[in-house]
Amino acid sequence: MLIQTRTHGFVHPTSSDITPQAAYQNRRQLMQRIAAGAAGTGMASWATREAFAQTARPGKLAALAGGKSAVAGAMTVEKITPYADATSYNNFYEFGTDKADPGHNAHTLKTTPWTVEVEGLVKKPAKYTLEDLLKLSPMEERIYRLRCVEGWSMVLPWVGYSMSELIKKVEPLGSAKYVEFVSLADPKTMPFVGSRVLDWPYVEALRLDEAMHPLALLGFGMYGEVLPNQSGAPVRMVLPWKYGFKSGKSIVKIRFTDKQPGTAWNKAASQEYGFYSNVNPEVDHPRWSQASERRIGEDGLFAKKRKTLMFNGYEAQVGQLYAGMDLKKNF
Ligand code: MTE
Repeated sequence: MLIQTRTHGFVHPTSSDITPQAAYQNRRQLMQRIAAGAAGTGMASWATREAFAQTARPGKLAALAGGKSAVAGAMTVEKITPYADATSYNNFYEFGTDKADPGHNAHTLKTTPWTVEVEGLVKKPAKYTLEDLLKLSPMEERIYRLRCVEGWSMVLPWVGYSMSELIKKVEPLGSAKYVEFVSLADPKTMPFVGSRVLDWPYVEALRLDEAMHPLALLGFGMYGEVLPNQSGAPVRMVLPWKYGFKSGKSIVKIRFTDKQPGTAWNKAASQEYGFYSNVNPEVDHPRWSQASERRIGEDGLFAKKRKTLMFNGYEAQVGQLYAGMDLKKNF
């Protein structure tokens, strides 16, 4: 993104754990998925099988499988973006501002040990280890569209569970109205932390009822594997109805508050990036239209762009959260 003034009993392995065991598990899972697809269990499993056929490669990362999600809208039937595109075209400014930078630089991110501190207006504040979080609820696979505010989109098979599972465990107080997600900001392993492009740490936030929506995913993996570092390992948010920047990566803190928190892009350029940032083709960014998008890995630079859908196509599921609100004002 550019701004105007500047341009289950599971030990979490790291992305660099390249083991024959992981490779074996990947192959076995791939075979299982192909078998499931061949049984004719519907379009979503077909899409999944296609995706795995496209992305099958010697296992690089440890396997992290999820059962098919039952959450409404969680299994978009669309062609899945190839793994190579999803992992080489990223925004993760802690590792640089070029799309290729995270893929090149994020190997320095240390994802073990990892803890996520939950604090603020909750009855049960706690420090969760990554292992605790991995066991907190069954893993699900969700095929979500993610659209960046810059006008490109991807369709990825994520693995995780609804954020609401964790929220229920910590029991928010009646006064809690917002949830803040704070990313790691470690200048030793993240070369761009300290640069003036954003206020660090990267912070994103939601209204509590948005965070409780079943589509709001706490993500640990994609393509049946643990998250690669450039995609926000070891744990991130995935909010398919909002512009991509709301999905904070490499989260270390979750804070419940009564006041709307300041967020990274809103603080950097509030006239361009609002608090809600719901995908909305009818509300232009001050410097460009948001009515269409380019699908990474499919639509070349000169291809006709595809239409952007209201709430990124998740209107039936999330529209009610914003009933009666002026979406031009609350952009
Ligand atoms: N989280 C952190 N910590 N730092 C970032 O720079 N970029 C955001 C979001 N989460 C970002 C972040 C933006 S602008 C987008 S579009 C998505 O991550 C990109 O996610 P992806 O690389 O999985 O496509």
